[in-house]
Amino acid sequence: MVRLLSLKKLLLVYFVMSTGALLWLILNFGLFCHASSKEEETLLTKTKELRHWEERLRRRERDLQKKPQEDASLPTIYAIMPTHTRHVQKAELTRLAQTFLHVKNFHWILVEDSDSQTDLVTRFLATCGIKHTHLNIKTPENYQLKETDPNWLKPRGVEQRNVGLQWLRENLDVGRDKGVVYFADDDNTYSLQLFDEMRHTHGVSVWPVGLVGGMRFERPVVEHGKVVRWYTYWRPERPFAIDMAGFAVNLQLILENPQAKFELRVRRGYLESSLLEHLVTMDELEPLADNCTKVLVWHTRTEKPKMKQENYLIQAGRPSDPRIEV
Ligand code: UGA
Ligand code: MN
Repeated sequence: MVRLLSLKKLLLVYFVMSTGALLWLILNFGLFCHASSKEEETLLTKTKELRHWEERLRRRERDLQKKPQEDASLPTIYAIMPTHTRHVQKAELTRLAQTFLHVKNFHWILVEDSDSQTDLVTRFLATCGIKHTHLNIKTPENYQLKETDPNWLKPRGVEQRNVGLQWLRENLDVGRDKGVVYFADDDNTYSLQLFDEMRHTHGVSVWPVGLVGGMRFERPVVEHGKVVRWYTYWRPERPFAIDMAGFAVNLQLILENPQAKFELRVRRGYLESSLLEHLVTMDELEPLADNCTKVLVWHTRTEKPKMKQENYLIQAGRPSDPRIEV
């Protein structure tokens, strides 16, 4: 009888305990599920945040790989570059920025041929990652090239380069700033080696230019380490028969000769001479690029894109979306 009773009690205890355990499990499982969905949410937000920072870090790493560290011991290269609005402008600037990003201590002086600084260039410079100065000046009306004019009829980028020179003279100091001044076209092609060559120019340095003057290259001819004449078809008797892309000037020389600038009213092919005559004589020139035997810059010219279909659409009153920048 006693044994029977204790068996009943045992069963009761067993029943109570297992129901309790079941209830506990259900309750806890429920709570656990609840907690886990909340945790999952937090986890999701944290993961998103992490991804965001990872992406930023990756981008920063890429930038650091792209842009060499500045080196205070090296002279700065001040590249004065005229630029003007046209369909290929942003493409040209992108191509050049991706070259200049590889050059240490590079200061890009962009001078727009316009009455005011355009949104396109302003936006472009804001994210290009290159130290820059943004200027503008419009070429006087009577010196502007017309659509139908051959490009050699009037000199291009003259006032823009002069404004660049003026900026150097107003903002830099002979004693403090060490550098070299280079005049870039926004459509040329530049080898990185060119910038290593020109960086230590003492006065005026020179080198060959490829695809210019209707020839494979033009170059200064060097004998016994000195420039003695010009290898060019067009007027080799010019004082400096060299393309804009073929020389660099020490900053000090620019700052100490404030009268030196480009002449707007020059005969065809004399633009470079109009500046250099104020600064140097032929026998003082410093020949670079293996005694002027290597081509490290090309006077490339970008084809003007045809806009036939675009114009059809404009005529039909359905122009392309102007909010899409090209
Ligand atoms: C060649 C030289 O490479 C130029 O450096 C030089 O200024 C020119 O000859 C000249 O004798 O005037 P080229 O390639 O034929 O130049 O000329 P562009 O590249 O069309 O123009 C030179 C620079 O001036 C470019 O950076 C261009 O964007 C700019 N430019 C051109 C203007 O600022 N406004 C214009 O209306 C046209
Ligand atoms: Mn050009």
